[in-house]
Amino acid sequence: MSSTTVDSTTRNYSLLNQEINALIEGEKNMFANIGNILAAIKFRMNWFWVGLYKVENQELVLFMFQGPHACTRIKKGKGVCGVSWEENKSIIVDDVSLFDGHIACNSASKSEIVLPIRNSSNEVAYILDIDSDQLSAFNKKDESELKKIVAIIEGLI
Ligand code: SME
Repeated sequence: MSSTTVDSTTRNYSLLNQEINALIEGEKNMFANIGNILAAIKFRMNWFWVGLYKVENQELVLFMFQGPHACTRIKKGKGVCGVSWEENKSIIVDDVSLFDGHIACNSASKSEIVLPIRNSSNEVAYILDIDSDQLSAFNKKDESELKKIVAIIEGLI
């Protein structure tokens, strides 16, 4: 594990949540708030890539993100994001090279977690995609904590 990696057992979600709440308090602009939330997640946890894909006309289109440039469009059912959208569920991938159909936007990405973000009609409107440059970086605790952040984003869209 690299010295800059935040270990999954010591990830400080309490601090991250405080930071997010402070950043968005009193601000109504969706882009400003989502931009700050993604930046807070990326830099608090030191993950490789943190971003949103938006459902648009039966495709996922790259939306706001923090990290290197990424694939622009993903079809329903393709890659981890497309499967998460199609099956309307969160997915943890310990080793992206073993995920059938994984879309490799960047070879540094080794594991990932994706979570659907639903609109008020309970349809998937965005996918939160988080990539790590370490294998097996995400666990069930990350999933349950990130679901709380997804709920905050659902209140902004
Ligand atoms: N994780 C992806 C592609 C998007 S990039 O990682 C930013 C996937 O297979 O869905």
